[in-house]
Amino acid sequence: MKSTVLNILLTGGSGYIGSHTAVALTDAGHRIFIFDNYCNSSAETIHKIQAITAQPITVVRGDIRDTALLQQTLETHQIDAVIHFAGLKAVGESAVIPLDYYANNVQGTISLLQAMQAASHAPRALVFSSSATVYGDPQYLPIDEAHPTHATNPYGRTKLHIEEILADLARSDASWQIACLRYFNPVGAHASGLIGENPNGLPNNLMPFVAQVAIGKLKQLKVFGDDYDTPDGTGVRDYIHVLDLAEGHLAALNYLGSHAGMHTFNLGTGRGYSVLEMIRAFEAASGRTVPFTIAPRRPGDIASCYASTALASKALKWNASRDLKAMCESSWKFQQNVMQSVPSTTEQA
Ligand code: NAD
Ligand code: UFG
Repeated sequence: MKSTVLNILLTGGSGYIGSHTAVALTDAGHRIFIFDNYCNSSAETIHKIQAITAQPITVVRGDIRDTALLQQTLETHQIDAVIHFAGLKAVGESAVIPLDYYANNVQGTISLLQAMQAASHAPRALVFSSSATVYGDPQYLPIDEAHPTHATNPYGRTKLHIEEILADLARSDASWQIACLRYFNPVGAHASGLIGENPNGLPNNLMPFVAQVAIGKLKQLKVFGDDYDTPDGTGVRDYIHVLDLAEGHLAALNYLGSHAGMHTFNLGTGRGYSVLEMIRAFEAASGRTVPFTIAPRRPGDIASCYASTALASKALKWNASRDLKAMCESSWKFQQNVMQSVPSTTEQA
């Protein structure tokens, strides 16, 4: 990477984390290009990003498995760095259609790497969206980057395979600059309330489910288990504000400017909250009640998971700064906007 203002391609940039990162990078003065096939997002998000940043964004609609289109995009826009968000991410679905997950996530990543390798100006800086899911059931807490990895589902295995491919690539050619970011639990939304997490159908994850119960779209939350070995018996996770996460990508890109090779970082807060604590925080932020029942444990869930943030703090000089209140308030504001723009339907939880 040569210049201070970078041309950055975001695969999957129209999605939840990509859209917030697009805003953070634009705010930092970089030029953003988005490559997305909208399989889990829409062009509407692009308009919202542009409304927030007041900057035009170039979008290429395409599948990351289209290597030729990716190469053409990299060359046409003289892309300096790629942040690779594009992928399928539903754990349960990945056990039902594993081949789709391997094709989209693993084959898609290989296609991207081949396009970067073939591009005439040879961009070599890559930030990859990995996940804390690669740690499996934690052997110790907080989880640092040296913790053994173990995937418990096909989605997690795609992340592990990709991490291994990236490590092999970096070993084979010292010019690659790769940051592998293991996200903990991203939640919240941009303060404008324009962009956020709006999953199709019934949400898999806690925060969007809680938000939809609070607004009355869903009747009640099921708390999956209250007999874990945690202070109140419910699962504990490291929830991180998506804007902190977005800024972590900026920090990683800056780091890559002076560090070749492959580097792996946790992006979390280092603090865990239980499901019951999340419900209470959301109730306080929204002024609404979140009815819930205790349900059996969800298969594959773990008791507690939170990050050691020491490495990211030291190397990237990045720390999450937004608190749980900010996470819940922004998520609530976004949820209210979504309900205003879409006719409401009531589903049974
Ligand atoms: P998202 O589904 O909102 O965004 C992913 C984007 O990628 C979508 O816009 C989708 O249309 C696009 N996409 C998917 N496959 C594509 C393909 N083949 N070609 C082009 N575009 C494609 O998901 P997100 O929450 O923003 O997650 C982004 C990345 O972070 C994913 O790789 C995910 O696995 C990873 N991650 C997410 C979480 C989380 O809890 N949200 C946690 C850890 C890691
Ligand atoms: N939970 C409920 N009810 C729900 C949904 C979730 O009680 O309706 C509980 C879960 O049992 C867990 C906690 O809320 O204790 C968080 O669950 P999420 O589904 O929101 O998040 P997970 O930690 O299970 O997994 C998420 C992503 C994974 C990713 C992981 C770490 O779904 O893909 O964070 O980044 F790998």
